[in-house]
Amino acid sequence: MTKGELTKIKEKVYQHCGLLLEGVAEERLRKAIQDEIQKNECANLTAYQKLISQDSQAFDQLINHLTVNETYFFREVEQIQLLVEHLVPQILANKSPNEPLRILSAGCSSGEEPYSLAIALREALGAEVAQRIQLDAGDLDQNVLKKAQQGLYSEFSFRGVDPAIRRRYFLRKDKGYQLIPEIRQRVRFHELNLLAPVFPKRFYDYDIIFFRNVSIYFDLETRRIIQKKFYELMPAAGILILGSSETLGNNLGVFELVEQHNQYYFVKGQSYRPNNNSASLELEPEPAAVTPAELPVFESPVLTEQETAPSPKLILPELQTLQQLVKDKDYTRALHLLDRLLMQEPDNFPALLLKSWVLLNNQDFLAADELLNKAFELDAWSIDLLLMKGLSAKWQEDQDLAAQWFKKVVYTSPDCWPAHYYLADIYRHQQRLEAASKAYQTLVRILTANLNAADATQWIPLALPAGDLLFLSQRHLQKLTADLYEREK
Ligand SMILES: C[S@@+](CC[C@H](N)C(=O)[O-])C[C@H]1O[C@@H](n2cnc3c(N)ncnc32)[C@H](O)[C@@H]1O
Repeated sequence: MTKGELTKIKEKVYQHCGLLLEGVAEERLRKAIQDEIQKNECANLTAYQKLISQDSQAFDQLINHLTVNETYFFREVEQIQLLVEHLVPQILANKSPNEPLRILSAGCSSGEEPYSLAIALREALGAEVAQRIQLDAGDLDQNVLKKAQQGLYSEFSFRGVDPAIRRRYFLRKDKGYQLIPEIRQRVRFHELNLLAPVFPKRFYDYDIIFFRNVSIYFDLETRRIIQKKFYELMPAAGILILGSSETLGNNLGVFELVEQHNQYYFVKGQSYRPNNNSASLELEPEPAAVTPAELPVFESPVLTEQETAPSPKLILPELQTLQQLVKDKDYTRALHLLDRLLMQEPDNFPALLLKSWVLLNNQDFLAADELLNKAFELDAWSIDLLLMKGLSAKWQEDQDLAAQWFKKVVYTSPDCWPAHYYLADIYRHQQRLEAASKAYQTLVRILTANLNAADATQWIPLALPAGDLLFLSQRHLQKLTADLYEREK
């Protein structure tokens, strides 16, 4: 497949649904085209191009390969709390009892987002009030919509969900969990292409639109077109919620950026603008050095086409200050400031690392991996970066991939004891007794010589408790030695 041929299909996809297919996504496109050529028994690429230009279903099948559907229940739960504790009660208070409140989850993937909203609303407001809320959900990808309608999920969709909630709203089925009918019936799923010239009539009058973790796949122009559509889909007042790390990058002058309870979101009209909205205030930052407790509130820029132009008013804190914020787990502030810094300096390597760390800790693996891939292009040998690649794979339960990354770390920096620990742990669970024993031995050797040995990271606050890990490793080592002895007998 030549570059030119690939570019033609890329262009067609972009025109249809706005997806940008560069870098890793380009590889996905190549593979998708090859699979579809085979599946449709096309003689060659030219025949396939003809097929997708004439048969919209065949083209949709290609699109289904290209979307990224990463999602899980109660993702960014602070935003869901804001919805149920503040936004919905405020909007309902302004409506007559018969008037519904309408919410859209745009780019809903396999349904975890709208169902989380349905559950949270039911929990917070009770069944009767929750009935007043109409939940629509739409996605481009027909395969995920089918999954959403089935409401059947694996363990992986429940990262961090309170077990009591899972017990209340899901029933065990096969190897997974099926959502109870009461909640399934609360959400209506529809096919939706956010870039379609005309939206189907069923999408109208939304008081609140969730559009989280979708805009990252679009360029600025596409984001603006979509925001204008959302604006039109709302009555005189409405609220638009993006993922917290995307919000500032989407301040395009269509909606007004506001802040309430430490959460940033957008509003249309005056009605839902919080009192004393600090996000819209133009505060002069302090010129003196700042400590984390007194970071300047940054002004809310309306991004232009040259969105990366630095604001002359903005003084960002030193990287060390941002590092401290991350270390203190003040993630909301850290993310806002890191986003601003990265807007001005997209290749700022420590900022990329710190933001990836925050995203990983928020379990936003997809966004974290994207940033890590970008950082990888700048420095493929950074220990912080390699460790995070390993942790990302480990936390997503791909232990083989995680071990590959941790091996790279110990190859690059043989004294990085956290990597030996993670490797040992993976090998032990995989019953690779010799390899586990060797890795624990290395860790014990390093930490016995110096319990304060540096962990080889530069920016991320890994902060593993060396004493505890030494103790644990010695115990595992004893057990492994005994097991190995038994095995050889
Ligand atoms: C990463 S998921 C986000 C899911 C959910 N909103 C969340 O935050 O967990 C992104 C979803 O956006 C959908 N998407 C991408 N382009 C779209 C478009 N043009 N119209 C509608 N949905 C789109 C994809 O199919 C995918 O399911």
